[in-house]
Amino acid sequence: MQPFAEALGATRWEPPRWDGSDAQERAIWESAVPQPDPAYVPGQVQLMMAAHLGLRWRLGFGCMGIYGSPGTGKNALLREAAAVWRVPLFTVDLSAGLDLVELVGGTALLGGSTVERVGKITWWAQRGALLALNEIQAVEPSMQTLLHDLVAERRVVIPSLDGSPQGIRLHPGTFVAVTWNPFQGRMPEPALLSRLGAVEFPQPGQADEAKILSSRLAAADAGLARPPAELVRDVALFTDLRQLYDQQELALFPDMRFALNFAAHRLAAGLPAAVRTLGALALTGAGERQRSLRQLERVIAAHYSQARGVLVA
Ligand SMILES: Nc1ncnc2c1ncn2[C@@H]1O[C@H](COP(=O)(O)OP(=O)(O)OP(=O)(O)O)[C@@H](O)[C@H]1O
Ligand SMILES: [Mg+2]
Repeated sequence: MQPFAEALGATRWEPPRWDGSDAQERAIWESAVPQPDPAYVPGQVQLMMAAHLGLRWRLGFGCMGIYGSPGTGKNALLREAAAVWRVPLFTVDLSAGLDLVELVGGTALLGGSTVERVGKITWWAQRGALLALNEIQAVEPSMQTLLHDLVAERRVVIPSLDGSPQGIRLHPGTFVAVTWNPFQGRMPEPALLSRLGAVEFPQPGQADEAKILSSRLAAADAGLARPPAELVRDVALFTDLRQLYDQQELALFPDMRFALNFAAHRLAAGLPAAVRTLGALALTGAGERQRSLRQLERVIAAHYSQARGVLVA
């Protein structure tokens, strides 16, 4: 925890805090402040990213773009930063079919009269929170406008049935973090990108990934607790599997979640069971499935020779 807070700069600065006094609102606000995760591993890339995040927040940019492969820990980083600074974390996945009125707010007809409704994101933005907006690379135009308002104008615009839309300013303590996977090179539109100061969250190094898997296993199930040294081979396997993905021989990116699942199965149920969990990574097309499984098995067998014959008869 200490090196992470140090990297953020939290020992020297903290974001301006919301001073609302309504007891009920206060209770909601406090309940969204995450607890530090005792299993969080502040490895090399985490500290580097924390330093970027903290600097942008201190410098008053109010926003940051974080992109990278799935499961590298983008959201875990944001959660930990919110915990250190004791600010609420509001996370939303913008690619899901979202109701903009529910998110932002608007006017609604209720029993014949119009009532103003403040949506969730607006409520948090007004009160100083870390807004984590995920999967922003392919959002619809209305979400693009919302993102632009948040990042470039630091406001939320609530549409109104009658009269002009209402612009609501963000609290100075609100920080907007957006994350995405640059899958097939997809990036947000250039105007947004330049505002965001996008930084890539790299894949953690092998030693750190082993520490993360070890920490997660121990936190989830004491029976699966193992020192990182016992997971080094699994991590090396996944490093090679990611290369196979880069060569377009796999359908799914073998991320840290997959690695954790593999290690847990190996320890709890044995190697063949673990190897079978990797079949899901293979390409699915009729003409390519068998080839993909053979490639998978070749890579797995280079690390675990006993794995031969599990995926390909
Ligand atoms: N440094 C870390 N220490 C402990 N656990 C970690 C760490 N980094 C990531 N994890 C764990 O790995 C998993 C994936 O992390 P997370 O959801 O933050 O990835 P992500 O980059 O946001 O992925 P996606 O791009 O798919 O949204 C989570 O279960 C998270 O708790
Ligand atoms: Mg995420």
